[in-house]
Amino acid sequence: MIKIAPSILSADFLKMGEELKAIERAGADRVHIDVMDGRFVPNITMGIPVVKSLRRGTRLPFEVHLMIDQPENYIEAFSQAGADILIVQQENSVHLDRTLQGIKDMKKKAGVALNPATPAGVLEEILEKLDLVLVMTVNPGFGGQKFIEYPLKKIRQLKEILARRNPGCEMEVDGGIDPQNARRVVEAGAGVLVAGTSVFGHPGGPEAGVKSLIEATKGK
Ligand code: DX5
Ligand code: ZN
Repeated sequence: MIKIAPSILSADFLKMGEELKAIERAGADRVHIDVMDGRFVPNITMGIPVVKSLRRGTRLPFEVHLMIDQPENYIEAFSQAGADILIVQQENSVHLDRTLQGIKDMKKKAGVALNPATPAGVLEEILEKLDLVLVMTVNPGFGGQKFIEYPLKKIRQLKEILARRNPGCEMEVDGGIDPQNARRVVEAGAGVLVAGTSVFGHPGGPEAGVKSLIEATKGK
């Protein structure tokens, strides 16, 4: 069964408690929280106090996608605020092994995200240490961007390598996912789909948004 991780970046921040309840009712598996610092990406979103408050609003696990410089400095704070999974970008994690160890030391799950232009091979040496790989199908920074096709090849490659070397590692895909492309993304190897705009911007509301993604990937 495919897992759905709604990205609350596209939610209505004024009624975040209700938005969380709606996705939970609809059958979402976890909450995807995009943290941006205006340095690694050209946008600023939310930080530690927001995660801490949201933690009281739902039982769903939290995955925190850190699109920030020096993510290693914030692992402890986000863990204490309520993150269950911490995802860092490979491109700005110079000491990736140490950063992943820092996440494990906090007893959290460790994920690494790859930008569209970053090849699968950069993970070659550390595949066994990962709980999750996040393949970006937009350039990180904003919700509501157009889905980029070419990382589908990388999803297939990684899925194949992980099946041999770390079958328990989750394959997640993030950016421009909607009911029209969800099935293709899953067929390429995704097990977890992040979706912001197609969930929270759905004309029928977030509950309908989650349900339409579940429907689109039925039987997978
Ligand atoms: C992009 C973020 C995504 C984004 C997804 O930088 O990492 O998680 O919020 O939103 P949509 O589904 O609108 O592309
Ligand atoms: Zn994200």
